[in-house]
Amino acid sequence: MNVMRIKLLLAGILLATVQSTSMAAGNAEQGEKLAETCLGCHGVKHYVNTYPTYHVPRIAGQHETYIVAALKAYRSKQRAHPTMQANASDLTDQNMEDVAAYFASLGGEVGSSAKIADEPLATTCMTCHGTGGLSTIPTNPTLAGQYESYLEQSLKAYRSGDRQNPIMGGFASALSDEDISKLAEYFSAHNGPLRTAD
Ligand code: HEC
Ligand code: HEC
Repeated sequence: MNVMRIKLLLAGILLATVQSTSMAAGNAEQGEKLAETCLGCHGVKHYVNTYPTYHVPRIAGQHETYIVAALKAYRSKQRAHPTMQANASDLTDQNMEDVAAYFASLGGEVGSSAKIADEPLATTCMTCHGTGGLSTIPTNPTLAGQYESYLEQSLKAYRSGDRQNPIMGGFASALSDEDISKLAEYFSAHNGPLRTAD
């Protein structure tokens, strides 16, 4: 192969790489700059929200598509939470994609979970949220390894209608407080890619 042919080949590979990168919506490097304000809460291990008290969710390693959807829901005030609404209100769609790409890229290795007893209530959930809450569908949040108190808080918010989602509203309305604690305990006990971005 002569030098010219190698150069042409390389140019082709580079072009293909550029095209595939530009197809991914978010730019994690840009996102890292935007993420600085977020780290005050999402970068502090076991940080809690007060009134009511529950852990600030782990978002490192969460699906990019889901993070963008969550940020848009706060920005449009469809999802309630004054601080997150304020944080999202300054972000453009592109900013959201960039910051989501950054947090999604920080996921950890998924180690094997200790033996966890089957939870019959979780069977339906896993058709959408994946085995043990390891979601393989980008629109569906990963639940494995999320804080138990946050999972409980979100299920109660869907049930009360504070958090609106036709699918989850339907499932949560059928759950008792006891069901919710069991499900939150079950999914948080699994190992997953979710991390605090510290
Ligand atoms: C003052 C603390 C604080 C700051 C700063 C903050 N967040 Fe949050 N964030 C929270 C809390 C608390 C929640 C849970 C709110 C709820 O119950 O809906 C949350 C929820 C989220 C969620 C939803 C997670 C899920 O699993 O649904 C995303 C995504 C998110 N934040 C991204 C960000 C980004 C991006 C920034 C920076 C631009 C940011 N947050 C800044 C406290 C904060
Ligand atoms: C048909 C698919 C489907 C099923 C079944 C389902 N979910 Fe969901 N779930 C979703 C989607 C989509 C979202 C994101 C909704 C949104 O944006 O608020 C979600 C969100 C959640 C959240 C919020 C996570 C976060 O990070 O804020 C929790 C907790 C949850 N589901 C738990 C459950 C549990 C427990 C069950 C079983 C009782 C269940 N889900 C069944 C699709 C499903």
